[in-house]
Amino acid sequence: MSHHIAVIPGDGIGNEVMPEGVRALEAAARRFDLDLKFTDFDFASCDYFDRHGKMMPDDWRDQLGGMDAIFFGAVGMPERVPDHISLWGSLLQFRRSFDQYVNLRPCKLMPGIKSPLANRKPGDIDFYVVRENTEGEYSSVGGRMFEGTDREVVIQDTVMTRTGIDRVLKFAFDLAMTRPRKKLTSATKSNGISITMPYWDERVAEMAKGYSDISVDKFHIDILTANFVLHPDWFDVVVASNLFGDILSDLGPACTGTIGVAPSANINPEGHFPSLFEPVHGSAPDIAGQGIANPIGQIWSAAMMLEHLGHIDAGKAVVDAIERVLAAGPENTPLTPDLGGKGTTSELGEAIAEAIKAG
Ligand code: NAD
Ligand code: IPM
Ligand code: MN
Repeated sequence: MSHHIAVIPGDGIGNEVMPEGVRALEAAARRFDLDLKFTDFDFASCDYFDRHGKMMPDDWRDQLGGMDAIFFGAVGMPERVPDHISLWGSLLQFRRSFDQYVNLRPCKLMPGIKSPLANRKPGDIDFYVVRENTEGEYSSVGGRMFEGTDREVVIQDTVMTRTGIDRVLKFAFDLAMTRPRKKLTSATKSNGISITMPYWDERVAEMAKGYSDISVDKFHIDILTANFVLHPDWFDVVVASNLFGDILSDLGPACTGTIGVAPSANINPEGHFPSLFEPVHGSAPDIAGQGIANPIGQIWSAAMMLEHLGHIDAGKAVVDAIERVLAAGPENTPLTPDLGGKGTTSELGEAIAEAIKAG
């Protein structure tokens, strides 16, 4: 079966890590005899914005809607285009229009990587953040009034719907059922955010009734961030609203050494629309153009895409290759500077592609 994949590198280091993601996919396709077709798109980038005055063409939904998956880099060049314009004009449109309501973000301490947390070794940090991806704190409900006067007011509402919460919770509980520890943690803040968060807690309690095998706990987001650092071994599946999930999914990977390794899958579980696979990190303007960005987040996202497309073995082989290359140790692996080495993006990408081919 062939799969048609949209390739959208975006901005900054998106352009540098994307070729390594594609290289890994091509290596996996050769080894597992997969038929992957790639089409490159230059929109959803600030270069496109400079040329056209908008982030995407009007018919972007038609161009991407028939794809089997979207492989995405990162967007944002805040010195040229304000972030809320570039991101609401691209990535956030994809997530919403294609109803990618689950943002699945694994967080795993890999062999050969030193955690900034004392005495943590592989196996101590291995959990998923399941982030609600289409509503919550990321709403466009609100506005600015009495602009420029002393009475200026800005309001932005949090929108939570029963359907929107229940469907992401169901995904998270189902995921927890597949894990040996069968544990689910909910991120809340129902002590201070007194309307939406108690409602989130109610929906979690209701959903838990249908999953008696799962042990469920919850923490307010403030102490939860502390516990990510102090007790990362407590966590298995962590489910969170859009903003809380965003924060946790940078903090978790930082505890595993660098956000440069973290992948994500923006999933429309029903398959009505293409799902989107991208690293958790952004366009990193501070290091863009130097060829030193860590490509592992992009490559691991490729693995998640392969699994989503039904090629479980190929996805697993890509993750195994990443782990083997890292486990070979700093003397044998061209680690990028965020991992303490002097390697380049393409050297590390090539080492992983070779490991995929070698099997
Ligand atoms: P960022 O993730 O781009 O960078 C944060 C820090 O991590 C920087 O110091 C950067 O050099 C480092 N870093 C990130 N990825 C790395 C990698 N692969 N290898 C090595 N180091 C890496 O976050 P930011 O600085 O807050 O945002 C920069 C731009 O990216 C902004 O425009 C922001 O809106 C955008 N952004 C986009 C996405 C996305 O497209 N999904 C995600 C986050 C941020
Ligand atoms: C992410 C990013 C985006 C988000 C930004 C760039 C809008 O931080 O994918 O985590 O907040 O979702
Ligand atoms: Mn983020």
